Amino acid sequence: MKQNNFRKTNIAGISIALFSVITLSGQVNDLKNTDMKKISTKEFPALPYAYDALEPYIDARTTEIHYDRHHRAYFNNFVNAIKGTAMENTPIEQIFAEVSKAGDAVRNNGGGYYNHVIYWENMGNKSSKPSDELTAAIEKAFGSFDKFRETFSNAARTRFGSGWAWLYLTPDKKPAVGSTPNQDNPLMDVSPIKGTPLLTIDVWEHAYYLKYQNKRPDYVEAFWNVVNWDVVNERYKEALK
Ligand SMILES: [Fe+2]
Repeated sequence: MKQNNFRKTNIAGISIALFSVITLSGQVNDLKNTDMKKISTKEFPALPYAYDALEPYIDARTTEIHYDRHHRAYFNNFVNAIKGTAMENTPIEQIFAEVSKAGDAVRNNGGGYYNHVIYWENMGNKSSKPSDELTAAIEKAFGSFDKFRETFSNAARTRFGSGWAWLYLTPDKKPAVGSTPNQDNPLMDVSPIKGTPLLTIDVWEHAYYLKYQNKRPDYVEAFWNVVNWDVVNERYKEALK
């Protein structure tokens, strides 16, 4: 019942999530309306699938708590932090470009909000594959797709404490891998890695502790089974423009 209520509540949010068009079956099936510039700073977007859609790799209870408590709290705190300021009507990417001037509440909660949107969206389609274009760019940058995968997994495994690993497109349009601490991301002026996010994994313990406890490497390995490459392919195409 709770799941049904969740769906009804959030279907209305599709129009503001804007990255994906979602069916009642929980599949991301149409990316024609992709617009990466429109992650809302006003409404909390829907989870693009049911809580159990990532099973058995990421368990339903973790997804529910992660989305409905952790992610929602970042969103609410971010909205409160920008309330009554010019940032209320500023695209989030622009806020990140000067986040060093915005203060820790915006940096931490804005990052926490945005990073989780990217994370949820880049999971959920277990049968998708990297496009030929993205595969070619990755092979050129890393030598092979396997080498990329190992580099990304290693960045996720070795990020000390809490944070995120990223595949991102550098300003000179090359795929690169790195990690950020806490809720930072490659769009932030404070980040040593800079570019457009293509794929991310959350390596905060709350993302995996219920199922994997201290075994972060097992969660990272399982993550590859749920990557939605359709979304990553589309982000790559958009980022090249
Ligand atoms: Fe998280």
